Amino acid sequence: MKLSRRDMLKGVGGALLGTALGAGSVLVARDRLDAAAGPSVAELPWSYKTLDLDSAAENAYDGYYAGACCYGAFHSIITELAKTVGAPFNTIPTAMMIYGEGGIAGVGSVCGALNGAAAAIFLVAGGMDKKKREPAFELIRDLYTWYEQNPLPDYKPRKPKYEIIKSVSRSNLCHASVSTGCKAAKVKSFSKERSERCAWLTASVARHTVDQLNKYAAGNLKMMSLSSEVKTCRSCHDQGGAIENTRGMMDCGGCHFKGPSKHVKI
Ligand code: HEC
Ligand code: HEC
Repeated sequence: MKLSRRDMLKGVGGALLGTALGAGSVLVARDRLDAAAGPSVAELPWSYKTLDLDSAAENAYDGYYAGACCYGAFHSIITELAKTVGAPFNTIPTAMMIYGEGGIAGVGSVCGALNGAAAAIFLVAGGMDKKKREPAFELIRDLYTWYEQNPLPDYKPRKPKYEIIKSVSRSNLCHASVSTGCKAAKVKSFSKERSERCAWLTASVARHTVDQLNKYAAGNLKMMSLSSEVKTCRSCHDQGGAIENTRGMMDCGGCHFKGPSKHVKI
């Protein structure tokens, strides 16, 4: 498929115009795109109102079957916000998040539900300035650790297609999560049962994210801390450590030292 620069500009212009008309005074149409700032919208973070957990979960479940995991999680949270807050949430083309399906276009990297939820979190808890980013980053890390360390999915939709068993993925990756779940349930990775697990998982992630955001907005969110093992590993390998040759907050043991440990004596 060929897409010329001109086609892309036409497409972008049309989309911008569409959103500008839909958004009324919130979006101001410009005669040219400002690459750094994007279209002119209210600065982040956008206002948040307490949302209903089960409604978000059910929307996410349905959203999964409409546009997969990343879309399902993002669309459900944004739709809930569009209902309770209105603009600018009702101007977002949530379909853009379809890209995150299957760990980004089927690549199997970051779990799409987590990716979509992180984007939604950033809209209501993040911002352009470094200081303003931090609350969103903390919430996202907390969500990722929760996902990595807990038996999931922990939300059963009202009208499930199959029964799904829980498993702990020890990873935020689509690949690891899918294979851990498939192994536990003895199903194939392209089966309908696996899809249903990802739909439950999308619902679980959306529900947990909304729960986090509700508590964060109320000022009573208690975050999960990294395991003491990960803290120990990071004390040498991460920022400021004696070796400082890694960057990350994932469960190191999810990938390293699965067999007899080959690590230097510490
Ligand atoms: C007291 C400091 C220290 C701690 C704590 C520590 N490491 Fe290391 N690690 C080292 C050193 C030193 C090396 C060797 C570095 C080299 O050879 O360049 C190393 C090497 C490694 C390597 C590469 C070589 C190998 O053995 O496979 C990995 C992977 C690794 N560490 C992971 C971890 C993980 C995971 C943890 C936590 C369970 C951890 N480390 C905890 C100091 C530490
Ligand atoms: C998703 C899997 C995964 C996770 C989780 C992970 N690693 Fe790694 N790590 C790798 C891979 C793959 C490499 C590059 C290949 C290699 O050296 O094993 C690597 C490389 C490293 C190295 C350099 C090894 C060397 O030979 O120099 C260290 C040290 C390390 N990781 C430590 C950690 C620590 C500490 C954590 C937890 C905070 C962690 N890793 C989490 C997959 C992972």
